[in-house]
Amino acid sequence: MKLAVIGYPIHHSKSPFMHNSWLKECGLKGSYEALEVPPDQLGEQIEDLRKRNFSGYNVTIPHKENIIQYLDEVEDRATELGAVNTVVIRDGKSYGYNTDGDGFLKSLLTKRTTKEVSDSQILIIGAGGAAKGIAGSLHSFGAEKISIANRTVIKADQLIESHGLTGDSMDLAAAQHQIGLFDIVINTTSQGMYPHIHQHALDATEMKAGSLAADIIYNPLKTQFLKKAEAAGADILNGVGMFVFQGALAFEKWTDKIPDTASMINKITKDMKQE
Ligand code: ATR
Repeated sequence: MKLAVIGYPIHHSKSPFMHNSWLKECGLKGSYEALEVPPDQLGEQIEDLRKRNFSGYNVTIPHKENIIQYLDEVEDRATELGAVNTVVIRDGKSYGYNTDGDGFLKSLLTKRTTKEVSDSQILIIGAGGAAKGIAGSLHSFGAEKISIANRTVIKADQLIESHGLTGDSMDLAAAQHQIGLFDIVINTTSQGMYPHIHQHALDATEMKAGSLAADIIYNPLKTQFLKKAEAAGADILNGVGMFVFQGALAFEKWTDKIPDTASMINKITKDMKQE
């Protein structure tokens, strides 16, 4: 079984390590490689993967949107998002999916029960592609009390409206005032990601004790946002779980096998600590 991830640049990706470990653990023959694909070569590279009998591949920055035009079919959720992160090739046809939102949800469910998630007042910071996927998955799962805070408020308005959410849309200043009212606060912006580790979109100092702060970033493992939330007495969840679960959902589509996510979260966490 031949698998890959395509992106540009791609050398820092932990996906080859993760999927090659799972292939081995599941007793499957095959390999998962990282392919650096410049934007102007996307179409031809995809055709090449199909011709070389790849079973599928992951798609990462900057190809998640542009890939869609080259696929034979795209699931509704990925079409709505306008972004694909997983492609399955079956009988020469390419099918597109997006497992990012459900990957986040599965990670969240390691910290909160189903009921807690649906009863929670949730605040999503950011209204870009990642926020859209996460809001969609949370909503399909039964959570409705979802508010969105974004620097550009109109994008938050659109996200609330398109999903029919019962929460509010607001700018970052308003969210900063209200942060103590939420049970779960999720950072989906790139603020705080390496090398800009001292930045944050919102200051979590006033989060409610016992609430949960989640970040989709995993480099660093503990962002400024999570550090402040922890100091406030909140539980914290970094982006390693989301990364591992989005990969596991893709792996299941390619192989019909369920990989070990818990030990992979530990392995990647250890690996990140050494960097
Ligand atoms: P992704 O697909 O990873 O979500 P994106 O679609 O570019 O990336 O979205 C990035 C998000 O981070 C957006 O919500 C963006 O806010 P705007 O919609 O106002 O652009 C947010 N973001 C990026 N830089 C930011 C900054 N310096 N401060 C606050 N928010 C920021």
